[in-house]
Amino acid sequence: MTRDMDEFLNRLNRHLDELRWLYMELYDNGSMFAELCSQMEAFYKERGTELKKRDREKLETPEWFQKQDMLGMMLYIDNFAEDLKGVKKKLSYLQKCGVTCLHLMPFLDTPEGRSDGGYAVSDFRKVRPDLGTMEDLEALSRACHKKGINLCMDFVMNHTSEDHEWAKRARQGDGEYMSRYFFYDNGEIPARYEQTVPQVFPTTAPGNFTWVEEAGHYVLTTFYPYQWDLNYKNPRVFNEMMYHFLYLANRGLDIIRIDAVPYIWKELGTSCRNLPQVHTIVRMMRIIGEIVCPSVALLGEVVMEPQKVVPYFGTTEKPECHLLYNVTTMATIWHTVASQNTELLKRQLSAVYSLPDVYTFLNYLRCHDDIGWGLDYDFLKQQGMREIPHKRFLNEYFLGIYGESRSRGELYNDDPVTMDARFCGTTASMCGMEAAAEENSREEMEKALRLDLMLHALMLWQPGIPMLYSGDEVGQLNDPSYKQDPKKAGDSRYLHRGRFPWKLAEEAQKNKDSIPGRLFDGLRHLEEFRSQEAVMAKDARCRVLEIENPHILCLQREKDGQKLTGVFNFSSDSQMVFRKDLEGSTDCFGRGKETAEEIWMEPYGFRIVKQI
Ligand code: GLC
Repeated sequence: MTRDMDEFLNRLNRHLDELRWLYMELYDNGSMFAELCSQMEAFYKERGTELKKRDREKLETPEWFQKQDMLGMMLYIDNFAEDLKGVKKKLSYLQKCGVTCLHLMPFLDTPEGRSDGGYAVSDFRKVRPDLGTMEDLEALSRACHKKGINLCMDFVMNHTSEDHEWAKRARQGDGEYMSRYFFYDNGEIPARYEQTVPQVFPTTAPGNFTWVEEAGHYVLTTFYPYQWDLNYKNPRVFNEMMYHFLYLANRGLDIIRIDAVPYIWKELGTSCRNLPQVHTIVRMMRIIGEIVCPSVALLGEVVMEPQKVVPYFGTTEKPECHLLYNVTTMATIWHTVASQNTELLKRQLSAVYSLPDVYTFLNYLRCHDDIGWGLDYDFLKQQGMREIPHKRFLNEYFLGIYGESRSRGELYNDDPVTMDARFCGTTASMCGMEAAAEENSREEMEKALRLDLMLHALMLWQPGIPMLYSGDEVGQLNDPSYKQDPKKAGDSRYLHRGRFPWKLAEEAQKNKDSIPGRLFDGLRHLEEFRSQEAVMAKDARCRVLEIENPHILCLQREKDGQKLTGVFNFSSDSQMVFRKDLEGSTDCFGRGKETAEEIWMEPYGFRIVKQI
C-alpha cells in the first residue's frame, strides 16, 4: 500500500460512519452510497501529486485561510484579461495589489445571453470556449500556487442551465432525467409552492416555475427561467454533483464557493430556504472534501437574514462551510454610511466578535451581486425605523436623490408588490466619486476618496478574509454600457460589472498623486499593515468600544498586551473624539504621537492608533 492510499484510507475511516449515517438518513440507498465511496477513491487517485502535497501542507495549518496576509480579489476573466491565459499573464499586477486569493467569477460553459453572468452552467467539465480550456485553468492554478495565490471558483450546485445535457434529455420526456429536476404536468402543485416560496428575482424573473412547452410540464426555476433547480431528493443528483465538485477540485482549486446553497432542498409548504436537509448535504460535502482533497475550503454563499447565516458554519465538532460571506456586516456598513449612525453596526460587530474563532468570514464592501438590505429590523424598530420605509430611504440615499447624498447607482428588482428593492453600484460610485467627477468638485472628490478608504480600512480591520472587487482598488465607477447590450440590459447588476479600467490602473502606478494613485497606495498601506502588524493577527481579541458620539465607530484589537484602536468617522462632517486612554498613543499612519485625549477626525476620516 502506498503512503498516498494510506492517507486516503485513514481519512475515509475517520469519517465513514458519519458519512454513511447522513447519506442513509437522506437517501436510504446502500448501492448509491457504495458508488459514491468508490468514486471518491477514483477521484483521489486522479488527484495530482502536487495537489496531494498541497493537501499535506495545508493539513498542518488547517486554518490556512485565516493567515494574516490573506487578501482576496474577485474578477471576471473576460473583463480583466480576456481569457484564462490572459489572467496568467496579469498575475504580476495582482501581486502588486497584494492578492493572495483570486476568485475567478463563473467561467464554465454557459449559453450566451442566458447565462446569468455564468451562473447557468451547461457543462460542469468544460470551460466557456472563449475563456480557454481546462488545461488553461490548471496552468493558471499552477502559476498562482507558485506565486502564493490561492484560487477560488464557483460551484453552482442549485441548478443547471436549461441547455445542460440532463435538461435536454428531460425536455425530451426522459423520466430518468426529469426526476433530476422538479417537473409538474399541471399548475396545481406549482401554485401551492408559490404560496410559501418568496421570489428571488420578482421583476427580472417573476414566479418560481417555468412552462416547458416541449415537455408539456412546468419546471421549478427559482432564479431565471433558464436555470432549472436540481432535485437533491434524487441521490443520483447528489452523487453526480459531488463528482463534478471533486473533478473541479482536482483541477487545482483551493476554495470552492458553493453558490446559492440555502436553496438546494425543496419541500412543499415551506419557504424552500435553509431547510435542515441543506445542512446535511453541506456537511456531507465537507466530509467528502476532507477525505479526497483536504486542502480545499468551502465558501458558502449564504445571503440570508442575519440569524440564518451562522448555522452554515456547522458546529465545531461537525463543521459545514469553512468560510461564509459577512453579508450582514456588509449591508450594515452601507446602512451606516446612509444614516451616519453607528448603533446598528456596533451591535452587528459585537455579535460577530462573540463567535468562535474558527468561524471565518469573508469581508467585503460589495460583490458582483446587488446589495440587499438584510438588516436587523427588530433592533431598528426599537429605534423607530420600519423595514420598508427604511429600505426606501437607503435606496433613495444611494441613488443620490436623498439629502446631501453623492452616491450613484441603480435599483435592482424593484418590487412594486413588496415595495422591496436592492441596490447596484461600485464602491467608488457609492462613495461619491462619480458625482464628484460629474460636478468637477475637488472638495467632493476628496471626501469621496476618504469615505472609500475609510470603508476599506474598516473591512481590513475585521478578522477573516478581506475580499476586494477588482477595479475597486483604483476607484472604478459604474458602467452603464450594459444597457446597450440586449443580453444584459434587463439586469442592472451589470452596472457594477464593467470591464477592468486598465487606464486607471496605469494612472495609479504612474501618478501617485492622482485619485487612483492615492486610493491604490492608501489600500496597499492598509493591507501591508494588516499583514505585518502583530495585533492584526487572527487571534487578536476584537471588541467594540463605547463612545458617545453616534457618528463614530471605535474598535479595539488586543494581543499580548498590545492594543490597537481603530476610529472610523461615518459623519460627512468633521468630529472630535474624546478618549482618555488614547492620550499619547501613536497614529499608525504617520501622523505622529497624539498628545491630547481628543482626536480630530476629518469628514469620513479614520485613525488607527497604537497604545503602548
Ligand atoms: C448567486 C450568484 C448570483 C446568481 C444566483 C443564481 O446568488 O451570486 O449572481 O444570480 O446565485 O445562480
